Parts: sequence; C-alpha cells; structure tokens
Amino acid sequence: MVLKKKKTSKKKSSSNRTTHREILEEIIRVDHAGEYGATKIYDGQIAVFGKGSKLGKTIQHMADQEQEHIDKFNELILEHRVRPTALLPLWNVAGYALGASTALMGEKAAMACTVAVEKVIGEHYQEQLELLGDDHKDLKKQFLNSGMMN
Ligand SMILES: [Fe+2]
Repeated sequence: MVLKKKKTSKKKSSSNRTTHREILEEIIRVDHAGEYGATKIYDGQIAVFGKGSKLGKTIQHMADQEQEHIDKFNELILEHRVRPTALLPLWNVAGYALGASTALMGEKAAMACTVAVEKVIGEHYQEQLELLGDDHKDLKKQFLNSGMMN
C-alpha cells in the first residue's frame, strides 16, 4: 500500500483537539511500538527462511509495508512531540524471537503468526478510530490512507 506523501506546508490542522492529549500520545506511542514489533517479527522469520527463498521474499514484501507504517509513525511522533516507548529494545528482541521461533516451527506456523499479528493490529486501529470519535480527523485519515487497517 502506497503512503500518501505528507504535506510539508505549515497549514494548521482543521481538526479539533478535544481528545485528551495523553490519549493521543498513548495511541501514537503504542502504534509506533506495534509497527516496530511487526517488522522485527518479519526480520526473525526472514532470518530463518532465508532472504532469497520464495517465502523470504513474500515476507520481505510485507516487512517493507510495515516499514512504511513505521516511517509514518516516526513522522507523527515528531509532529505531535510524543516520546517513544522506552520498551523498544524489548520489542526488538521479543519480536525477532517470536518471528524466528514460529518460522522454525514451519511455514504454516509462521504464516499463522503473521496473520494473527496483522489481525490484532487491524482490530487495534479500529478501536482507536472509535476512541477518537470525531476528533483528529487528519490522523484518522492517515490511518486509513496508509493501509494500516489492512
Ligand atoms: Fe503495519
């Protein structure tokens, strides 16, 4: 899924700001960590299956999409001045271990892990959209446009 190029103009957002800042910060922080963890899971799977393998290439394609999501959240972290989670190193190791261990169990287990992760992330974004209600329409649009819901 292709990300829409972020506008660089300093145009003020037209969305209102009634959602509590702490909630917005938490959403961006958790999503950033989740996308980061997803890429680490894929890294672990690719390490087991091999970069050149057919499966490795398929997973790499998915990992590339996750990288786009992370890039988006890196932008949001700067834009909204959110402190990233201090647990990123843990996500790094845990995600990689989960990816590698499910890959070692075989192709089916690896794909089941991937599908489960994507499903949880999708549901998670859906809940956040509901939580935000009518607030932060620009942020919600970014979620939808970037294919994070898929
Ligand atoms: Fe993602």
